[in-house]
Amino acid sequence: MEKPALADHPIHEIMVRRWSPRAFAPRPLPREQVLILLEAARWAASSFNQQPWHFLVATRDDEARFAQMLECLVPGNQVWARDASLLILTVTKGTFDHNGKPNSCAVHDIGLTACQLVLQATALGLATHQMAGIEADKIREVYGVPEGFEPVTGIAVGYPGDPDTLPDDLREMELAPRTRRPFAEFVFADGWGNPAGY
Ligand SMILES: Cc1cc2nc3c(=O)[nH]c(=O)nc-3n(C[C@H](O)[C@H](O)[C@H](O)COP(=O)(O)O)c2cc1C
Repeated sequence: MEKPALADHPIHEIMVRRWSPRAFAPRPLPREQVLILLEAARWAASSFNQQPWHFLVATRDDEARFAQMLECLVPGNQVWARDASLLILTVTKGTFDHNGKPNSCAVHDIGLTACQLVLQATALGLATHQMAGIEADKIREVYGVPEGFEPVTGIAVGYPGDPDTLPDDLREMELAPRTRRPFAEFVFADGWGNPAGY
């Protein structure tokens, strides 16, 4: 299923096509595509080129690792993410290598790398769904994440599926229109809350 952004201005088609479905067709992802996704993520910009991102990955053909990672998601995400082809947990390093000081952009840079990965996936005809609903403490324990590193999000990547395979509540969300705030609510000029006029 496709659910293109109803953009008011002519943005790039890759951003029109990207969306976050929960219906996936459970098929294995070729290794070459995993490599392309990780490469796209690797070339994201980051503050001081720290590249604070780290990824824990599990492909569905590796059943034990996939099941282990699925259990690191909150139950509400496990319901649908089990049909993904690739699960990723993002982990960021909270300090800079060059001076040991806190990196205030560590989470921002996870967002950038995730954005590159999901847009590359879209270009490959894959579907992606990012998740805040992860079990950070469990991830630390299961994977031995060291001090100073923070689990941030999960990303499910897979083949677009049939919304009819979803439970009723999720199917309803899958079919609901996509919405966005107007510029007037978040683009300000001369003072907070004063629309810039775009
Ligand atoms: C950082 C982040 C965390 C999210 N967490 C979840 C989540 O835990 N579970 C879920 O079902 N969707 C999650 N989403 C998906 C959002 O709900 C979705 O991106 C948003 O509704 C906009 O829809 P779109 O991606 O289709 O444009 C998350 C998205 C992002 C970017």
